[in-house]
Amino acid sequence: MRTVEVNASGCYQIHIENGLLDRAGDYLRDVHAPCRAAVITDDVVDGLYAGRLCASLEGAGFSVCKFVFPNGETSKNVDTWARALTFLTENSLTRSDMIVALGGGVVGDLAGFAAACYLRGIPYIQIPTTFLAMIDSSVGGKTAVDLPAGKNLAGVFWQPKLVLCDPEALDTLPAPIFADGAAEAVKYGVLRGIDLFETLAGGDFCPKLPEIIERCVAIKRDFVQEDEFDTGVRQQLNLGHTIGHAIEKCSDYAISHGHAVAIGMAAAARAADMLGYSDEGCYIPIVEALRKNSLPTKCEYDSAALLRVIGSDKKRRGDRITWVIPRRIGKCALVELDAEQTRQFVAVGIGESHGHHG
Ligand SMILES: NC(=O)c1ccc[n+]([C@@H]2O[C@H](COP(=O)([O-])OP(=O)(O)OC[C@H]3O[C@@H](n4cnc5c(N)ncnc54)[C@H](O)[C@@H]3O)[C@@H](O)[C@H]2O)c1
Repeated sequence: MRTVEVNASGCYQIHIENGLLDRAGDYLRDVHAPCRAAVITDDVVDGLYAGRLCASLEGAGFSVCKFVFPNGETSKNVDTWARALTFLTENSLTRSDMIVALGGGVVGDLAGFAAACYLRGIPYIQIPTTFLAMIDSSVGGKTAVDLPAGKNLAGVFWQPKLVLCDPEALDTLPAPIFADGAAEAVKYGVLRGIDLFETLAGGDFCPKLPEIIERCVAIKRDFVQEDEFDTGVRQQLNLGHTIGHAIEKCSDYAISHGHAVAIGMAAAARAADMLGYSDEGCYIPIVEALRKNSLPTKCEYDSAALLRVIGSDKKRRGDRITWVIPRRIGKCALVELDAEQTRQFVAVGIGESHGHHG
């Protein structure tokens, strides 16, 4: 089994192994005495994996109850969160009980936020079932729900007690959802993993999934340990996300997060190459790696539309925006740009112009 350890405000292990779902109860017992375990999941994952998980938990002595909500980002809201909290009270969970999040990033973020708030915080574990959740959202303790004004606007940092990744659970993932995770994996390669980048750029890496998940998680772990509360270097994990979020919003979330991040990453690389921020050409290798993973690299929105959304981004400070810029594959930097530089960066990034007026 592959294990990555996180030492943040909470210390926990991330185990990665095929078939882990059926042994979840044993690993849970290693970190917590048998108790009441509230499994939170969505309706798709419930039908696929909840039965096996619950059997394993019960076999290890846990008393299981289950809260299921409709799958998809539109469920990641205050209403579902409040219903989850009500469910916990109805099932008499106490501070010595725990929540088990089984699903993708939507389930993990929502269940984590419920765990952080219920009785001022109870333990939770993450059992991610999407590629994106295994390598990104289940690690690092960011929990949230969306508000009508935007994504992830209500949330806290609350680290899980354990993360269990069973790569076999990805077998049932539809291809576009798998590709969303591949975009984030390529991102880790561009940030800190030239070897990882090359593996992903080669395509057909499915047989190597356990080691790829381990490598991605280790890179994320390093960022989290260096800057748990996201005030410095952890912001590099937003590579491709500023333009990506704008694309998601412009499409009214019809374009998924990973696909939007892929376009955002290509745009950041193009702007970095053309405006002289990168040490060596990053755009072509990044575009090739994304295409190899069935990801888009261009969008239909113009820079004016994207900039309207970017201007109201929650990460903005005054009229300056911190951008993550690739220097070369395996190394990125944070650069603060003012409004005019941002306008130029976005326009050049999406191939609209060379960034000059007129
Ligand atoms: N907390 C963080 O650090 C962090 C980081 C990145 C993203 N996120 C959040 O993660 C969310 C996106 O996560 P996601 O891409 O996993 O989306 P998701 O949770 O909506 O899952 C995508 C779809 O796949 C289905 N699914 C899940 N596992 C499956 C499986 N094994 N087989 C078949 N279908 C399966 C789900 O039911 C859903 O319909 C966003 O809300 C984003 O904000 C959080």
